[in-house]
Amino acid sequence: MLTKWLQDHKPRAAVMKEQRAFYRNLELAMDISRADHSLFVAKPRWDDSVLDFTSSDFLSFSRSGRIREAFQEELSRHENFRLSASGSRVQYGNYDYLIQMEQELAGFHGAEAAYIAHSGFMANAGTVAAVPLPCGAIIYDDAVHASTHEGMKLSLASHQLSFRHNDPDSLRDVLSELKESHTAFATGSSSILIAVESVYCMDGDICPLDELVQVAKELFPLGNAQFIIDEAHSNGVIGPKGADLVDMLGLEKEIALLIHMCSKALGSTGAQSGVILCNKPIRDRLISNARFAIYSGAPSFPMVASMRAGYRLLENGEAEKGMVKFQKSLKHFLKTITAHPDYERIEHLTHIVPVLTRPKHELYLFFHLMINNINAYAVSFPVVPKGKSRVGLVFHAHNGLDQAETLANVICEWAQEMLEIKAGETENVMPSAARQVYAMKA
Ligand SMILES: Cc1ncc(COP(=O)(O)O)c(C=O)c1O
Repeated sequence: MLTKWLQDHKPRAAVMKEQRAFYRNLELAMDISRADHSLFVAKPRWDDSVLDFTSSDFLSFSRSGRIREAFQEELSRHENFRLSASGSRVQYGNYDYLIQMEQELAGFHGAEAAYIAHSGFMANAGTVAAVPLPCGAIIYDDAVHASTHEGMKLSLASHQLSFRHNDPDSLRDVLSELKESHTAFATGSSSILIAVESVYCMDGDICPLDELVQVAKELFPLGNAQFIIDEAHSNGVIGPKGADLVDMLGLEKEIALLIHMCSKALGSTGAQSGVILCNKPIRDRLISNARFAIYSGAPSFPMVASMRAGYRLLENGEAEKGMVKFQKSLKHFLKTITAHPDYERIEHLTHIVPVLTRPKHELYLFFHLMINNINAYAVSFPVVPKGKSRVGLVFHAHNGLDQAETLANVICEWAQEMLEIKAGETENVMPSAARQVYAMKA
């Protein structure tokens, strides 16, 4: 795995002198990121003997085969299914099974309507692009996912402003300024879409949704400020039956748009799938205005069937069992790694734990974990702000207490080594795992 990773980071343009300039120029551009190991490369999948603290199989539905079994069962009930939707939603692709599944999803989540999109990314980007009107505003938490940013690039909304991450006072300041400077917002003739996430994928922290909703309602009592919430990291892992944060807080009536990703905890499909939960006017707006609804083939039967299989598991209480397991190992990890009792006061721990490091040290820790048979992921600037480099850890139902303890001990071993280097107690300036990796390069 490391050898492949190192190969992928070797500069390539220099050895391409004889090749067509078009391709050499691409390699040259990538060489800049290869030089500091920041190029995104496809990571080879490790076998299950490696400790998994990185996959999105939070509830182990995929690894255990449970989602596959539920999927096969669903397929066997529809032996003559047609593989392709054979058209976009506005053409031929609007088939009964898809519509029925949308109704079931709306029912499960207590929404008026649902719309199935091709992926979570597409659901977010396409909705943010399609729903706001040209004279409207999008106000977003400054830590929202790339897919929301992608949607904003395409959106015609004339105002796009961020507020400080998870900060209701900052949201109040931004909204107040908008209201004061543009009367259309104060009179309700222009609308505002506020974009947040239930659980932020980098920090694993939960959105203070009820406080944010109160701020918006107070400032815009006519209801022209509404929320879109990305529930990628709460689907299956928060709330009753793993429904989501909105359900846990009982805010179903307050949130205009919920975006669910079925590619994570549900472990659904080879392709990915996203669900947009909303009311009828928004669903109609999506079908009439979202480019992914109009200009792309509708989701296929196998994809929709795999979503149904995932939701069957949630309905049968499988999520709660998985949630208990990963919470246990997460608590054990925190207990092992810190003498500080703070973690015991946190009401709900999410499955995402960032280990913040100094710049570049995230790679050193990543190497150290890899060499110790642990799969995690290093995150550097610009994915996170400068000074917020980290190794991201994700806990799953399949991480037992022994694995949590091993992880904590391996991280402590690395930290001890870094402290010794910092104190000048060793002649090395780089920790042992990084030295090993860079030696392999030579
Ligand atoms: C917060 C968030 N939103 C959206 C997405 C995209 O979802 P999908 O993988 O289903 O396209 C992801 C996936 O990484 C995510 O973490």
